[in-house]
Parts: sequence; structure tokens; C-alpha cells
Amino acid sequence: MNETRTPLLSVKDLKVRFGNVVALGGATMHAYPGEITAIIGDNGAGKSSLTKAILGVYANSEGTIEIEGREVTMSSPHVAKAMGIEAVFQDLALFDDLTLWQNMFINRELKRGWGPLAITRRAEMISRSDELIRKLTVNVPDARRTVRSMSGGQRQAVAIARAVAWGSTLVIMDEPTAALGVRERTEVEQTITQLRDQGRSFILVSHSFDQVMRVADAVWVMRHGRAVAHRRIADTTGEELVGLVTGAIEK
Ligand SMILES: Nc1ncnc2c1ncn2[C@@H]1O[C@H](COP(=O)(O)OP(=O)(O)OP(=O)(O)O)[C@@H](O)[C@H]1O
Ligand SMILES: [Mg+2]
Repeated sequence: MNETRTPLLSVKDLKVRFGNVVALGGATMHAYPGEITAIIGDNGAGKSSLTKAILGVYANSEGTIEIEGREVTMSSPHVAKAMGIEAVFQDLALFDDLTLWQNMFINRELKRGWGPLAITRRAEMISRSDELIRKLTVNVPDARRTVRSMSGGQRQAVAIARAVAWGSTLVIMDEPTAALGVRERTEVEQTITQLRDQGRSFILVSHSFDQVMRVADAVWVMRHGRAVAHRRIADTTGEELVGLVTGAIEK
């Protein structure tokens, strides 16, 4: 591949410790824009720690993070959000009793004015949510429906739509389909690849080698808190990825 492109995200020698536990022992990786970059590795390899450090959850992490070639300090989740970096987790972080549009705009309400103006704002939030959801492949009902009434796949589609709506730079997904059935997983994969084809950038933590082979453009393999191997998906196989994760293949 053309490796002269500037990575969207470049992480160098990132370290995260919890007391005596070294969750990240100097992780180095990068991700290109308009691609799905997968992160794989065994339980405890440091995948979630890496993504959380990028998201500013661990303010005391060491090392450097660059966005589009510029060094940034991810001192808090607010900093990451302000840079257009959003997250989607396995456990659906939605409010069951709120409607789809309320979930889309939670903590980001278009607040201006009272009375009739407030009603306009509400209508605008509903129509903008509808518009965003319609761009996705997944068949999601009306933006006025509560999230409780939706299937797992639809709910995850809402979570992804919300992240993509606000995460203009990069959406980081940690096991986004782990809680879903086969059909719903397929729907979510379609959503992600379609958005990638529209130029969106994703980091995808996954335990599924098949999923990585199906949707990703590149993959990093983590072992013991480090990214030990990197492959373009076009140049690897599911079998090789298994070997890299277990350590049967060194790097
Ligand atoms: N908040 C925490 N406090 C203490 N140790 C932690 C904490 N979070 C992670 N760890 C430890 O850091 C290491 C890396 O964990 P991490 O969650 O990053 O792994 P992972 O690759 O995401 O694993 P999994 O596939 O199980 O999600 C593990 O040894 C884990 O026990
Ligand atoms: Mg994890």
C-alpha cells in the first residue's frame, strides 16, 4: 500500500499502568483515514486500554498521540470529543426510556430560545436524527420511538449513528457486535463498511477473525500490552491472524 500517506492517528510508545499491572507497555500503531483499522489480541492484551487512552479516559498515560500528524494531549474525554473522536462500546450506552432522537442529542441539545423556538429546536432534532439514521443501511424505525422498543442491532445502529454524527474525525468501536446475533451483526458490519466507503474512519476492536477479514483494511495484533504485528488485510489470512494472536507466528 501507499505508506506515504499521513496517518489519521499515530500512537507512539503509549503506556498505561494500574498499580503494578502494566496494561499498555509501550504500544505503537497507526491508522489511515477512510479505513477500518482492526485491533485484535487475546483477553487482557491491552486492546481496550489502548482505545481508552486514545479517548482520553486515562489522563496519566505516557507516550505520544498524533492526529493528522499533530501531537495532541488526550487529557480527558472532552478533549477527544472536541477533536471529533467518538466511541461505541459493546454494552449499548443508550437510554432505554428516551426516544431515538433524544439519544442522538443527549448532552448536545440544540438549546436556544424558549416557547415556540424550543419547539422548532425539537422538530429540528427529530428531523436531523431521522436524516442521520436514514443514511445508514440498517432498518431503524421512527426517531420518535423509544430505544427500549428496538432490537439489539437497531440499538447498536443508533449508537453508531450517534458516534458517526458527532465523531467527524474517528469512531473507535470496542467489540461493537459482541452482544448481537448473526443477522444483527451483519447489519452492523454493513453499516460500518458503508460509512467507511463514504470516507469515514474507524478503529475496530474485535475478537472475530472472520469479522476482521470481512470488514477491515488493516489490522494490528496486540500481545502483552504492545502492538506486535501489523498487516494489510489484503496481504493476510484468518489463519495467519490466529497464529499472530496466539504467538505461534512471532510477528
Ligand atoms: N481499571 C483497571 N484496573 C486494573 N487493571 C486493569 C484495568 N483495566 C485493565 N486492566 C488490566 O490491564 C490489562 C489489559 O486489559 P484490557 O482491558 O486493555 O485488555 P483487552 O485486550 O481489552 O481484553 P479483553 O479482550 O478481555 O477485552 C489486563 O491485565 C487487565 O486486567
Ligand atoms: Mg477489552
